[in-house]
Amino acid sequence: MATAVAQQPPEIKFHAGKVRHTSSPLDRAAASAAAHDAAARAFAPPTSVPAYTPSTADVSDLLANSHVHTSPSLGTEFRAPALAAATDGKPSLSIRDVLDDEAKIAALARLVSERGVVFFRDAIITPKEQEVLVHRLGLAGGKPPTSGIHIHPYTLQGEEHGDGILKISSADQGSRALKRQDQASILNRHKGNLEWHSDISFERVPSDYATLQVRKLPPNGGGDTVWASGYDAYERLSPATRAYLEGLTAYHDGSHFHDNISEHGQRLRDISRGAPENTGPELDAVHPVIRTNPTTGWKTLFVPRNFTRRINELTAAESDNLLEFLWDHVASNHDIQTRFRWEENNLAIWDNRSTYHARTWDTTELREGTRSVSLGERPFFDPQSKGRREALGLDK
Ligand SMILES: [Fe+2]
Repeated sequence: MATAVAQQPPEIKFHAGKVRHTSSPLDRAAASAAAHDAAARAFAPPTSVPAYTPSTADVSDLLANSHVHTSPSLGTEFRAPALAAATDGKPSLSIRDVLDDEAKIAALARLVSERGVVFFRDAIITPKEQEVLVHRLGLAGGKPPTSGIHIHPYTLQGEEHGDGILKISSADQGSRALKRQDQASILNRHKGNLEWHSDISFERVPSDYATLQVRKLPPNGGGDTVWASGYDAYERLSPATRAYLEGLTAYHDGSHFHDNISEHGQRLRDISRGAPENTGPELDAVHPVIRTNPTTGWKTLFVPRNFTRRINELTAAESDNLLEFLWDHVASNHDIQTRFRWEENNLAIWDNRSTYHARTWDTTELREGTRSVSLGERPFFDPQSKGRREALGLDK
C-alpha cells in the first residue's frame, strides 16, 4: 500500500536518506542529527556578500490604480473594474496592462518585494504567460541571468502545461502520476499551522518570485491561501534574538521527493531544474537563517517549515526547540499575515524570499491551479542591510 506522503510534510522528517513519520523526541533528535551530517556534505552558503543593487523602480504609477493594502504588514490587491468603480473610482489595473510594459514589470517586481504578495482580481492569463511574467519579474528584480524557471522534481516529461508550470491540485501532488491520498482521512489531513512554507527552499538556488492562479474553484468557497511576512517575522523578534540568529545557517532538505515518486513507480527528474546549481539528484542546501532580499535590501527570516531540518551551528535539541519557536512565531502571529479568498481570474504574485504561505485545507471539493516559480539568487546575508521598518523609518 502506498504511504500517504504530502508535498510539504512537516510531520515527516529526513532520516538517514529515508522519509518516515516521526513523533518521539528520540526520532526527532535522530532526524536532526542525520540532517546535521547531511548539511556537512551539502553546499555551503556564500562566504562573502555578493554585489547587489536594490531596485529603485518607482511604484507610484501602479499605485495610482484602484487598490487596497490587505494588511499593514503585507499584501496589496488591485481591484477588478466593477469594484474599482464602486469604491474610489480610480482605474482598474489588469495584469494585461503589465505584461507588455517593461517599466510596469520593473515596478511590479519592486512592489511585490516590498509588499510580499500582490493580488490581481482582473487577471485573464494563460499558464505560459504566467511563466513569462514571473521570469521577467525575476530579471527586473536583479536575479542572475543563469537563473530561469524552476522545473519541479515532480514534473514528468509531457506534463499538460510544460516543464515550467506545476499543477497545484487537491487531487494530486503536482503531477498527474501522483494522486493525493494525504487528505482522505482526518488522521492524515494537514493541520493549518503545519502548512506554512516558502516554495522549493531545498534548492541551492531557490525562488525569488512565484505566481499562482486557481482555475478550478470549490463551488462553496474554501481553499484560501494565507501569506506571512518574513520581514515582520524578523523585526518582531527582540534585537538580542535578531543578533543571535544573524550568521546562523540552516539545512534545507527535499529528499522525500525521491521516496514519494518512487512509491508511484516513477523516477525523479534529475535534469537541471532551471539553474546550473540545481542539477542532479541532490535536493538539499544550506541557507542563512536571516537573509537579505537583494531587490529591497531588507533582512528577512528564512526558516520555511516544510524543508528546514536543522540549524547547523546548534545542538540537535537547541535546533529543534529554536525551529519550533520560529515556526510558531510565523504561524501564530496573525498580525503579520494576510488571507486571500480566490475568485475566478485572480492571480497572486509573491516573493518567496520574504514571505511564507499556507493553503487552507477546509474543503474536499476540487481546487486546482497553475503555479510558475522563478529562480533567484543563492541566498546570502549582508550584515550591513536593514530591516524593512528600520529602512522605511516606521515605528518599531
Ligand atoms: Fe507553495
